[in-house]
Amino acid sequence: VTSYVDRFRASVRDRDAVPASPRRTQDRGTESPHLPDRFRNEPDTDPALPANRDWARRAITTPAPPTREPEITDPAAVDTVVERATASAWGTRPAAERAGVLRDAARALAAARGELLTVMVGEAGKTIAEADPEISEAIDFTAYYADRAAELACAPFTPDRVVVVTPPWNFPIAIPLGGCVAALAAGASVVIKPAPQVRACAEVGVAALHRGGIPADALQLVHTDEGDAGRRLVTHPAVDHVVLTGASETAALFRSWRPDLRLVAETSGKNALVVTPSADPDLAVADLVRSAFGHAGQKCSAASLAILVGSVRSSRTAAGARFHRQLADAVRTLRVGHGSDPSTTMGPLIGPPDAKLERALTRLDEGERWLVEPRRLSSTLWTPGVKEPVAPGSWFHLTECFGPVLGLMHAADLDEAIALQNATGYGLTGGLHALDPDEVDHWSERVEVGNAYVNRHITGAIVQRQSFGGWKGSVVGPGAKPGGPNYVAQFGTWHDGPLEA
Ligand code: ALA
Repeated sequence: VTSYVDRFRASVRDRDAVPASPRRTQDRGTESPHLPDRFRNEPDTDPALPANRDWARRAITTPAPPTREPEITDPAAVDTVVERATASAWGTRPAAERAGVLRDAARALAAARGELLTVMVGEAGKTIAEADPEISEAIDFTAYYADRAAELACAPFTPDRVVVVTPPWNFPIAIPLGGCVAALAAGASVVIKPAPQVRACAEVGVAALHRGGIPADALQLVHTDEGDAGRRLVTHPAVDHVVLTGASETAALFRSWRPDLRLVAETSGKNALVVTPSADPDLAVADLVRSAFGHAGQKCSAASLAILVGSVRSSRTAAGARFHRQLADAVRTLRVGHGSDPSTTMGPLIGPPDAKLERALTRLDEGERWLVEPRRLSSTLWTPGVKEPVAPGSWFHLTECFGPVLGLMHAADLDEAIALQNATGYGLTGGLHALDPDEVDHWSERVEVGNAYVNRHITGAIVQRQSFGGWKGSVVGPGAKPGGPNYVAQFGTWHDGPLEA
């Protein structure tokens, strides 16, 4: 089984073995292909091009810059930041002009790709295969929301005054910058409070947006924790919206601080990929491994469960034995390490495992066994694990663990698989591997997730093509999806009334 990351690794390590490829996308020596008048997704760096491999090697071995901004603990300092944001002239500039600035900012991000790669690998340990597409996504958000800003030019719309963005650590560039540029596109001023684990990433990203022309008072960065200063930021009366991507518990904490808070939140998930006997096992295994173990499983979108249907579930049938063997081989082949080593295919945890992840990595519940047992190499480096069979309603079936553990569940038929998939209480991503069109239709009509993928990995939504967002316990607020057409317009008020979801 050759996954995308394996291919990337092979081409990075073995440059002479890689022939000139017709799949070339972009040489990093050339300019970003963004045109001002038509949105196109920014291509990732093509590792088939030798110059790109040299470029990537340099970027990942350069030390990440240190954090520069101090931590704010005094709520009065937060007031000063919010007052400056409120006084910014950004929201009074014509929408078309804001769109132009955002397009320049997208170009500035594209020009900063090397710096962004360096800081993501250095600070978060991400692999190139994970970090490089994330930079493309941040550029896409900026260019795509620029177009949405232009659409607001003739709308009866008043932007929010101030939007606070509180992103997670797992996508330290795309999610923080995506939240900022969405609110900026609407005409709001933004205060971003980065996750403490990835402050340098946010600083480098915000600096690139400033270089692209976003005014300093319209986009300010503050480092705080959840103490008095953080609480002041979320509860400040001039703050019209808070954008949160993170745990459901954080959304509940914010609401307890401010019950009337207008929260745009994408929260937890427990995502499953269903594999039926009609699936192509090679594709299913590759997509499952990528979905479960990309960024060591630390994605809200990651596959934490695989639900194996019919003959695939049993190691006693030929199809099932083959699937289990291929999956185990592919998981054992992952090379665990730091992203600064180009041969790494699964990077580190962001910190030592918390209690939930520790339990998932070290304990089996009754009846479970390890198909692949995880091993601790250091506090943050763990080899990936696969456990089976996870029982319906069990702890692992229902609990988000956010790490490199995949649980296999068994279902007699597709309906039972869908019931297991829909029973988690969450509804973020979900996948089906099946080549039978009737199965695809049956599943697509019944699965309760925001992003449903067929015969594809279930992480890595693409801006405009797959706007990203949850359903059920995975979303708080009106539910407009990042990377989709309605996301920008929620950061403001329509003259004939507030925007409906
Ligand atoms: N947008 C990210 C993904 O799709 C979370 O994986």
